[in-house]
Amino acid sequence: MTNRYIDLIEQTFDPAEGFKVIDGCLYFHDVSLKALIDQYGTPLRITYLPKISSQIQKAKRLFQLAFEKHQYDKQYRYCFCTKSSHFSFVLEEALKNNIHIETSSNYDIDLVYNLYQHGKINKDTFIICNGFKPREYIRRISGLINEGHRNVIPVIDNMEELHFYTKYLQPEVECKIGIRVAAEEEPTFEFYTSRLGVRYKDIIPFYENVVKKNNRFQLKMLHFFINTGIKDETYYWNELVKLLQMYCDLKKVCPELTMLNIGGGLPIRYAFDSNIDYEYLISEIVYQIKETCQREGVDTPDIFTEFGNFTVGESGAIVFSVLAEKHQNDRESWYMLDGSLMTTLPDIYGIKQRFILLPVNKWKNPYQTVTIGGLSCDGNDFYSSKLHRNNLYLPCLNAGGKDLPMQDDDEKLYLGFFHVGAYQESLSGYGGIKHCLLPSPKHVLVQRNPETGEISTQLFAPEQNAASMLNILGYEM
Ligand SMILES: Cc1ncc(COP(=O)(O)O)c(C=O)c1O
Repeated sequence: MTNRYIDLIEQTFDPAEGFKVIDGCLYFHDVSLKALIDQYGTPLRITYLPKISSQIQKAKRLFQLAFEKHQYDKQYRYCFCTKSSHFSFVLEEALKNNIHIETSSNYDIDLVYNLYQHGKINKDTFIICNGFKPREYIRRISGLINEGHRNVIPVIDNMEELHFYTKYLQPEVECKIGIRVAAEEEPTFEFYTSRLGVRYKDIIPFYENVVKKNNRFQLKMLHFFINTGIKDETYYWNELVKLLQMYCDLKKVCPELTMLNIGGGLPIRYAFDSNIDYEYLISEIVYQIKETCQREGVDTPDIFTEFGNFTVGESGAIVFSVLAEKHQNDRESWYMLDGSLMTTLPDIYGIKQRFILLPVNKWKNPYQTVTIGGLSCDGNDFYSSKLHRNNLYLPCLNAGGKDLPMQDDDEKLYLGFFHVGAYQESLSGYGGIKHCLLPSPKHVLVQRNPETGEISTQLFAPEQNAASMLNILGYEM
């Protein structure tokens, strides 16, 4: 048979890191997905924990390499952006790698206290506090500083913010601060300038007229986040150089400035065949920083990053069963899933995000073009070739091809969406009330013993049940 799915993939794509097919079934980081499905059923959300540590180590290694290449003699500090995934198991794994944290809200401070109480972080851990801050967030940040967390750095989002720290910090306590520069948006975006941060032209006057005159504040960090993420595109490099110029201009009047925070946005693989040249991207960033500082005659800074998606995205997968195939006209074929895409992978619906989509089994079946239908009754709960930016080919349900009816005793087709580990639960409201009362899926953690290589799994959470939903909705139980 020539039109087998496995032949299509082998002809079109090179083998991709983290994926392997053995005997017609897919393995994710050498873990048999079929075995996990047999044990836990579907829909099944999976986190492969070792990938979190290996991503952090990879970034640290590449910064180290770039520092050596460009003789950059300062520190690199890896911060994890908690909003990408707040799960305890994610932070626990990430914090094994001597890293720091970036927070975004008042409730993140509770998370920081919890990690501190459990010995996962200490008072030297950098806690970079971002966001437009309501009073309560500022009060809680000040609380941490008052209690001796030496490296808590509130990043000033607007000039009024500074005043409130003077209210909440104890009189004798000094405070390191950062300032976020409001980056210019991509030309195609709806706005010219990000709503987050202080306007470029206001930064030096704000420093000279306000910060410098208040000797309890030390301006240590300049922060920016280029909304498109780190990309080898003219827009990104132009913005980077502009912001580096800002760093140098500020450094000339503010000698205590020693840290540059370039935010998040290191990309991950959203296509089976994509190949990101991380070594080049990181080397070029370090080179640009060094070059601009040298040209301007200022000392180079310690570099901070806040990678969220890069840290946790590639550790995640979600697997569904295909319940049935529906032919709604002569040309369109739907694979109906046992879960909703809209509620489990909201980026598909919200920002038309493409994810890696692969069948778990039936790789030796013939293939056909299909659209994937989610279980909610919303018209937008689907994943199509257009979203996939490629024809969405998947194996036929039956080994004989698409015209055979599905056999009752035939094994189901299972489909996996991969690299879904960041933001999806934060956006969909994990364990809350979702469209059509569809539950949050069961979630399994996969760990690998570093010595023996042995895999172990642990059910982090069973599928959300009806009682939990009715309770949230106020029904008497
Ligand atoms: C200030 C800041 N830092 C870091 C990040 C993390 O970005 P990413 O997940 O793309 O690495 C974000 C994401 O919104 C952010 O707003």
